[in-house]
Amino acid sequence: MTINEIIKSNTLDQKITIGGWVKNKRGSKNVTFISLNDGSTINNLQIIIEAKTFEDQIIKNITVGSCLSIAGLLVSSKGSGQLIEMIAKKITILGLSDSEKYPLQPKKHSLDFLREKAHLRFRTNTFSAVFRIRHALSYATHKFFHEKGFFNIHTPIITSADAEGAGEMFQVTTLDLSKLGVKNNTVDYTKDFFGNKTSLTVSGQLEAELAALGLGKVYTFGPTFRAENSNTSRHLSEFWMIEPEVAFADLNQNIALAEEFLKYCIKFCLKNNVDDLTFLDKRMYEEEKSLKTELRSEMGLIERLKFVVENNFEKITYRNAIKILKDSKPNKKKKFNHIINGFGDDLQSEHERYLVEKKYKKPVVITNYPKSIKAFYMRVNDDNETVGAMDILFPSIGEIIGGSQREERIDVLSKRMDEMKVCKDELWWYLETRKFGSCPHSGFGLGFERLVMYVSGMKNIRDVIPFPRTPQNASF
Ligand code: 4AD
Ligand code: MG
Repeated sequence: MTINEIIKSNTLDQKITIGGWVKNKRGSKNVTFISLNDGSTINNLQIIIEAKTFEDQIIKNITVGSCLSIAGLLVSSKGSGQLIEMIAKKITILGLSDSEKYPLQPKKHSLDFLREKAHLRFRTNTFSAVFRIRHALSYATHKFFHEKGFFNIHTPIITSADAEGAGEMFQVTTLDLSKLGVKNNTVDYTKDFFGNKTSLTVSGQLEAELAALGLGKVYTFGPTFRAENSNTSRHLSEFWMIEPEVAFADLNQNIALAEEFLKYCIKFCLKNNVDDLTFLDKRMYEEEKSLKTELRSEMGLIERLKFVVENNFEKITYRNAIKILKDSKPNKKKKFNHIINGFGDDLQSEHERYLVEKKYKKPVVITNYPKSIKAFYMRVNDDNETVGAMDILFPSIGEIIGGSQREERIDVLSKRMDEMKVCKDELWWYLETRKFGSCPHSGFGLGFERLVMYVSGMKNIRDVIPFPRTPQNASF
């Protein structure tokens, strides 16, 4: 049995065996109490070890960080803080741990420190809670799309198309770089593994579109890679993206799907991860205590999750957003680093934060951006200036979703690709779906780690993925 199962089923007066890691040890000459955790829940099981039952050496060898297998009797607890405890009858020490040297002491460690101990941080309260929530969100994602009749598509990780334009790519090659024969400044990729230049994908969208134009409703959930040198708390070089793609859906249906999906995932955690969220709620409150009042969250973690589930997202057009920003105090007082002048300006994160955190104080969907600042595949609107794009912005996170209605008209698409210098030969297969049985369709991409950040209240994206990859860092 796991500790979670024991607590949930309120199993009493039974002899069982469990395995776990020692989080804490205290006691007296006659009796030792340890808190054991097996990762199944944030809750520990208190183990009572009576000196008369065990050899001194065994009790001595039980240290914080050691791993034990214990057979014992579950009884209702006389102490406060837990309902059930275990009286140990037999203890096997599976893994000793030198308590002097063990990096995780029973005290608060900084997240920076724990990032360097990423191999051990799964054993901490914070990270075990975060990764259980990450699992729940992943499970909720598959459940949501399955229930709505979507098919999960595994799109390739290695790609020869570098035209999506979502970001800088990592090259994939088996060429010996030290012996690279460069002819006329060009590499002979016919000698490379795939016979041409290949990279790690930045998005599964283009392939998901192909699948949607046959299967109807599909989604991808896979790793994506971006070689941008952006060392921020919201960017990873390797992150996971969920990309649904829906035939016959327009932009409004796309937005409705995204809103429903986000709310479903959050609701799922509110229902199934109560203990972890309660712990993280307290944690966030404690962390923010040291901040200036204006930097603290207005709501607690659970409160804000409920707020998102219970309220409609604000929907505004890009034109409106620009108007609001242009007239805003920080713009007039030149407090923004990038001053908003008018139509065509790209929104920086400072502007997104203003809209989401100051103006509306809730998730905001911005639609119909200028075509000049968006990707070639977004559907051109009748004004011929904007495209049917949508970005969803979350408080404290910024952009969590980017999506659009796709350009299904071959002539318009072809013109856009020329304008944006996208290689049509390389994407011949994408264009063929517009030549043969094209149809209106839409989709979006959710940055999975950004969702985990929002639900867990963690402020750095490096703390919601087990082993983060960022510029200059691919340890573990
Ligand atoms: O807005 P993006 O670049 O959109 C696309 O890639 C489209 N092909 C999606 C689609 O329509 N199917 O990325 C989508 C989301 C962003 O909103 C953000 O949440 C996340 O992916 N994202 C990142 N997350 C972590 N680290 C990075 N470097 C990210 N770049 C984007
Ligand atoms: Mg985007």
